[in-house]
Amino acid sequence: MPFTIAIDGPAASGKGTIARALAAHFGFPHLDTGLLYRAVGAMGGDPVAAAQALTAADLARPGLRSAEAGQAASRVAALPGVRSALVDFQRRFALQEPGAVLDGRDIGTVICPEAAVKLYVVADDATRAGRRAAELGVDPAEMLAQLRERDARDSARAAAPLRPAPDAVVLDTTAMTIDQAVAAAVVEVVQRRAG
Ligand code: C5P
Repeated sequence: MPFTIAIDGPAASGKGTIARALAAHFGFPHLDTGLLYRAVGAMGGDPVAAAQALTAADLARPGLRSAEAGQAASRVAALPGVRSALVDFQRRFALQEPGAVLDGRDIGTVICPEAAVKLYVVADDATRAGRRAAELGVDPAEMLAQLRERDARDSARAAAPLRPAPDAVVLDTTAMTIDQAVAAAVVEVVQRRAG
């Protein structure tokens, strides 16, 4: 059985940083699934057709990390046809040997309910906005409003809404440094691997 690590949580909670660090620590490949939705949102035209035609080259488009691309991603991510077009690719990635790390919103609930480790990474709203605003060089108050809008849309949608899997371990990174958050995540994974 491949060892899949599923990391979900709201925008800018630290899940991407933790996912990359876990992948490096355990030598697993990492997929930032948000990038798939960002690429579909940036392609324009019919989002379902864009999701069906998505290639690796589309994930390298410039500007996908911007706040605007995040908003566009969250709008197309609410469409069931977009989500179902992206399922197979994500599942194949998750099930490769010896293991893989995926981060997103529905990895532990929909894409990989059998994942060996499920982390749900959270942080308070102001902390998340401050971190992301510093990263992108934008106004924290504006970022806070954008993150709240995106989280509300991601949580309220009918298709694969943002929520922790019942068996996910919640990791609150509000008062943690990156090193502390990564160390806590490593401990969780090591415990599951030993068990
Ligand atoms: O994680 P990131 O902020 O890059 O995600 C951008 C948007 O893509 C999210 O706001 C969400 O709407 C969508 N998304 C999703 N399911 C995932 C990953 C991202 O719906 N697994």
